[in-house]
Amino acid sequence: MRLLVTGGAGFIGSAFVRLALREDWAARLVNLDKLTYAGNLENLTSIEKDSRYRFVQGDICDADAVGRLLEEEAPDAIVHFAAESHVDRSILGPAAFVETNVRGTFTLLEAARARGIGRFLHVSTDEVYGSIEEPLDADETWPLQASSPYSATKAGSDLLALSYFTTFKLPVIVTRASNNYGPFQFPEKLIPLMIANAMEDKPLPIYGDGMQVRDWLYVDDHCRAIQSALSKGAPGEIYNVGGSMALPNIEVVRRILDALGKPASLMTRVKDRPGHDRRYAITTAKLERATNWRALVDFGEGLRRTIDWYAAERSWVKSVRSGDYQNYYQRNYAGR
Ligand code: NAD
Ligand code: DAU
Repeated sequence: MRLLVTGGAGFIGSAFVRLALREDWAARLVNLDKLTYAGNLENLTSIEKDSRYRFVQGDICDADAVGRLLEEEAPDAIVHFAAESHVDRSILGPAAFVETNVRGTFTLLEAARARGIGRFLHVSTDEVYGSIEEPLDADETWPLQASSPYSATKAGSDLLALSYFTTFKLPVIVTRASNNYGPFQFPEKLIPLMIANAMEDKPLPIYGDGMQVRDWLYVDDHCRAIQSALSKGAPGEIYNVGGSMALPNIEVVRRILDALGKPASLMTRVKDRPGHDRRYAITTAKLERATNWRALVDFGEGLRRTIDWYAAERSWVKSVRSGDYQNYYQRNYAGR
């Protein structure tokens, strides 16, 4: 398969690119990425010289650039990761989320339709379902109830993508994954932020009572699910992808502190996130039935691998936490 991957310099996209080349999922792989604060070519040094790989810096909202790239590369499929992905940033400034997540996805869909692309896999999130009351789990028919500007723009782009299947017969597949973790995750999200702060004996900011529940999915398991949906899923379908590992935030943070041998006193309660969803929980039976995919990495093993990686890659952490990261940290956490 010839693949066009968008957002392949980010956390999940770069894991997908590395795996796709290592495991021969692609004869050709073109990575279109704008290199926002979250995009980092250092995530791809292990594969950058692979002759099957090409990196193109560009914006998915740029219709001419996207059209030209599809013309040049004639991909069989598009795997669309590119997005603004952090909920707290969508609260501080939603405009970029509407632009990239909605208009960017629209631009790609239009280009894919014009060229008659064979598969369009839209990478989405379980956040579109909103908070799920215990003991229920959302399947793919669950109503959409987005709470943050981030999840609202993802829900909007999901519906737009699915409408291109219904209306234009573009072979769209949507995957909705739970919280990913693993190496190379930008340290604005819970797990890498807590690891990075704990390694430097800095306070660990816990929003509200810390009893919000998230389902944790190791990033490579997510990437394998995307590959399974791409190769064995049916056009027009939505597939949830979860790790079946629901934990309260405070428990996740305790495990990180234990693993690093740091004291619980580093945990600091701060003002809650506005509109904070209490609990995410999904079923993944549909993807398992359709493709035989299973999550393989349990949370204990995945967290150990992740902590080991951050401990070994302190220069990566230092470089992404310098400069603009400090402004963001101040804006989100100072006086909270
Ligand atoms: P990320 O923020 O780490 O990376 C996003 C990438 O997209 C970056 O490389 C960035 O440079 C690129 N990008 C942003 N705007 C762009 C634009 N206009 N044009 C081209 N490239 C652009 O994100 P992530 O955590 O890797 O998430 C990837 C996808 O997976 C997103 O669509 C996200 O909604 C979805 N998702 C993430 C999670 C999670 O836990 N992180 C869970 C479920 C779904
Ligand atoms: O569910 C999938 C989603 O998971 C993805 O679509 C998003 O891209 C991804 O960012 C993630 O969203 P969350 O908002 O769940 O992830 P985050 O890591 O920001 O927060 C996880 C939980 O931890 C949430 O309840 C908020 C809490 N939290 C987070 C941060 C950054 C804290 O208590 N303190 C913090 O400093």
